[in-house]
Amino acid sequence: MNAYFYSSVILFLLRALQSRAVFNIIASEPLLQNQTLLSNSQIFVLGFFTPNGSKNQYAGIWYKNMTPSKVVWVANRDQPLANTDRSTSLTIGADGNLKLLDGQQSLVWSTNVTVNSNYSVATLSDYGNFVLQDANSNEIWGSFDEPTDTVVPNMKLGLNVKTGKKVYLVSWKSENDPSSGSFVLGITPETPPQAFAWNRSTPYWRGGQWDKSTFVGIPDMDSTYMSGFTLQQDAQQGTSYFILNNYNNSFFGYIFISSVNNYNNSFFGYIFISSDGSLKQVDWDDGTDKWLTNWKAPTSRCEIYGTCGPFSVCSSLKLPICSCLKGFKPRSKEEWNRETWTGGCIREAELQCQRNTSTSAPVTVKEDIFLKMSQMKLPDSSNYLSDMADAEECQSWCLSNCSCLAYSYVSTIGCMVWSEELIDIEQFTTAGEDLFIRLAHAGLSKQKKVIISLSTIFGIILCVAAIYGLCKWRANKRGMSKTMKTPALLYSGDMTDRSEEVPNAWEEQWRQDNASELTLFSFDSILLATNNFNISNKLGQGGFGPVYKGKLKDGKEIAVKRLSSSSSQGVEEFKNEILMISKLQHRNLVRLLGCCTEGEEKILVYEYLSNKSLDAFLFHSRKKAELSWDIRFHIVQGVARGLLYLHRDSCLRVIHRDLKVSNILLNEKMDPKISDFGLARMFEGTEVLVNTHRVVGTLGYMSPEYAMGGIFSEKSDVYSFGVLLLEIVSSKKNTSLDYHGQHLNLLIYAWQLWSGGRALDLMDEAIVDAFAPPEVMRCIHVGLLCVQDHAADRPNMSHVVLMLSGESDLPQPKQPTFTFRSLTTPEIQSSQQESRWSANAITTTVLEGR
Ligand SMILES: *[C@@H]1O[C@H](CO)[C@@H](O)[C@H](O)[C@H]1NC(C)=O
Ligand SMILES: *[C@@H]1O[C@H](CO)[C@@H](O)[C@H](O)[C@H]1NC(C)=O
Ligand SMILES: *[C@@H]1O[C@H](CO)[C@@H](O)[C@H](O)[C@H]1NC(C)=O
Ligand SMILES: *[C@@H]1O[C@H](CO)[C@@H](O)[C@H](O)[C@H]1NC(C)=O
Ligand SMILES: *[C@@H]1O[C@H](CO)[C@@H](O)[C@H](O)[C@H]1NC(C)=O
Ligand SMILES: *[C@@H]1O[C@H](CO)[C@@H](O)[C@H](O)[C@H]1NC(C)=O
Ligand SMILES: *[C@@H]1O[C@H](CO)[C@@H](O)[C@H](O)[C@H]1NC(C)=O
Ligand SMILES: *[C@@H]1O[C@H](CO)[C@@H](O)[C@H](O)[C@H]1NC(C)=O
Ligand SMILES: *[C@@H]1O[C@H](CO)[C@@H](O)[C@H](O)[C@H]1NC(C)=O
Repeated sequence: MNAYFYSSVILFLLRALQSRAVFNIIASEPLLQNQTLLSNSQIFVLGFFTPNGSKNQYAGIWYKNMTPSKVVWVANRDQPLANTDRSTSLTIGADGNLKLLDGQQSLVWSTNVTVNSNYSVATLSDYGNFVLQDANSNEIWGSFDEPTDTVVPNMKLGLNVKTGKKVYLVSWKSENDPSSGSFVLGITPETPPQAFAWNRSTPYWRGGQWDKSTFVGIPDMDSTYMSGFTLQQDAQQGTSYFILNNYNNSFFGYIFISSVNNYNNSFFGYIFISSDGSLKQVDWDDGTDKWLTNWKAPTSRCEIYGTCGPFSVCSSLKLPICSCLKGFKPRSKEEWNRETWTGGCIREAELQCQRNTSTSAPVTVKEDIFLKMSQMKLPDSSNYLSDMADAEECQSWCLSNCSCLAYSYVSTIGCMVWSEELIDIEQFTTAGEDLFIRLAHAGLSKQKKVIISLSTIFGIILCVAAIYGLCKWRANKRGMSKTMKTPALLYSGDMTDRSEEVPNAWEEQWRQDNASELTLFSFDSILLATNNFNISNKLGQGGFGPVYKGKLKDGKEIAVKRLSSSSSQGVEEFKNEILMISKLQHRNLVRLLGCCTEGEEKILVYEYLSNKSLDAFLFHSRKKAELSWDIRFHIVQGVARGLLYLHRDSCLRVIHRDLKVSNILLNEKMDPKISDFGLARMFEGTEVLVNTHRVVGTLGYMSPEYAMGGIFSEKSDVYSFGVLLLEIVSSKKNTSLDYHGQHLNLLIYAWQLWSGGRALDLMDEAIVDAFAPPEVMRCIHVGLLCVQDHAADRPNMSHVVLMLSGESDLPQPKQPTFTFRSLTTPEIQSSQQESRWSANAITTTVLEGR
């Protein structure tokens, strides 16, 4: 996505280039083959064209000054004219209709509407609508009502349910053949409407339900580049139209008076369906004078309608991509193993409500339950229930009707229920809605909680309780402290003068919330495990205190982070870290096993990772050779997924804020695990940026906006990730300033090599084994995209994951210009010391916020 797309799709010879331009067509002045009709805005032009390599010519509309040109409308797509015919014309006939005539004056195409006189005029509107007006200037026909494969701003797409009139897009047959192809894009007449594409009559792609601002099946749609759409429904007229309404009229007026060639905006965009079924949103980019594809679908197999069959969910980040819903099993195990998923899945346990009451045991049966799945593309074929006030009513309606298989309550839509096979479900990593699937109680018998989250799709255990507990904690923190409802709150007082019962209450709460997951270690057991914090057990020294290796009585190895009482990590941070880390579980995150909070001691116990931290390999003259390209790429992908999890997939959106090589730990299989999210702060749902009082992070990894303004967002982590990525490829530190005698930082060095076409030179010479150059290039390219100066230019982590896996096109990065050197002070430099194992050795730099 977001990729440069040189619109090579539409290449054709414009014979009309030398033609004379006119501004209208009237009965006495037809448009001749060697003429063009211009819009007043001079943006659009209508004329005759011949696609590259074609023997046909067509009358059509295209953008005047954007090359390669893009034909947005074709009059006679299925009635071509011979391209040798130089006497074709578009004229107003005796019946007042527009007619396309060939050299023999025979009719090829006509508007065929009822007109009361032949004094009609045809013009091309500023927006590219070819309109026919009667003598009273009423529009009697417009090309916007009969689109071909493209919608431009202000054009409608949709249908009139009453008259059955559809305004749908139909693809070209091939790149150079405008005749009707097999792909159709439209808006379905159901409530809520869906964006839908078909391959002939077979569903091919589904944008999901319209939630009044986006389609729930298009997770990118809430990003800025997909905004600017409205869906207008008129119950009386029975119409439902989707409108691309990017144009700002006053802005548009500005174009009128400005130079024609100087299109200083990004509204020259269109959406079209290509001959191979791909949907694209393309904008004109002034900077590069090129068409730029901002969005494209389908981009993965999961986006193809019904890839996984019924009762199965698709996830691009998982292999295999299809998995049965909880409580379902593959219809055919063999097909499933052959990765033919279209047969889908079937129920493992019959629903209670479906049981034959006369035969089954009447007692001991429990009512059906609902399984909650979050961040979902909701299945197709929903039924909308208009009179449900809230989610509870929606649920109880569904529970009471045995044919109801699932429900979802989306606040902007209302209650949707499903009674047919659940098909075309996708697990997203961003956006999406909650879907509740009906299951027999037995189907979940092994689950403790009635409602569990199915984000286990990513191999993650998520926890509803965590959100609950944390929200409570946050609410308390935000000043509800006087009510003192939750024991967790009581802990927030000063550790030293707390009363006896306070920690007990807190611990009680802890045990309730975390019983199965976290251990509260006694200080004695920690002393025993670490041999009284013996110096020989010390793994490293971090900003917040030393880290020791320990061994529990059962032989299990642990890493113990003992926070020094003078550490800058206060009670706040400590609580933050415990509560968050314990709930954040992902195979690319270091696991917190427990903690110890006796007296003044604040101790965190983590899993121990035998290969310690990545910097011990990467920057070690000999050991870096152990990192083959495959391992490096595996690490990069793992870190990206871990970070994506923190940003998007965990119950809380977490920003790491101190991502760096020494915070990447490796297990015996060289699987990367991100450590130290103690600094991470949660932020509230809609708030994207949070201003912090002080900046905590590590030089060389801090994004410009973070280092200078203390402003952080997910994009600051993306920046750090980019630095990390380039370091992993090159085995060079961003903070080492000397490369080949030049005074550069790694980013600028990487940029110079990349833009000079020598990106592979950045690669660590120690990598001697086989590698795929395109993969290395892709990593460097993604790294450069991540370290762009402006946060808005950087991709988000889900894009990064897709780009790394080659599933998404790569836009051009902008040159990084920010250098941290201006901030460097000798003390900060000296704090960049090496540590043998710096899992928790945060190099802390405190800059005063401005
Ligand atoms: C037309 O198509 C041919 C082959 O399909 C290609 O080589 C040529 O460059 C194209 N011409 C233009 C003007 O795009
Ligand atoms: C356009 O073609 C017509 C005949 O079809 C001819 O009379 C006229 O001179 C041509 N105009 C130009 C500008 O070539
Ligand atoms: C327009 O209509 C009038 C009367 O109906 C007719 O005399 C005239 O020839 C028509 N003009 C054209 C160009 O067809
Ligand atoms: C014009 O429309 C009429 C009725 O609306 C239809 O019967 C006729 O076939 C159409 N003619 C053409 C050429 O499309
Ligand atoms: C579209 O459908 C046709 C059969 O009708 C099939 O051959 C073709 O592969 C399909 N295209 C895509 C992109 O699925
Ligand atoms: C439209 O553009 C003008 C000029 O750029 C601007 O002043 C105005 O605020 C814009 N209006 C809207 C609704 O965006
Ligand atoms: C383009 O827009 C920017 C700001 O929107 C303005 O500063 C610049 O002068 C404009 N350029 C032209 C050529 O109009
Ligand atoms: C229920 O069981 C009875 C007797 O076994 C059988 O005749 C009937 O068809 C069953 N009904 C359903 C809906 O399965
Ligand atoms: C149960 O749901 C089905 C399908 O949505 C519907 O046709 C039927 O009328 C519902 N039954 C009741 C009693 O509401």
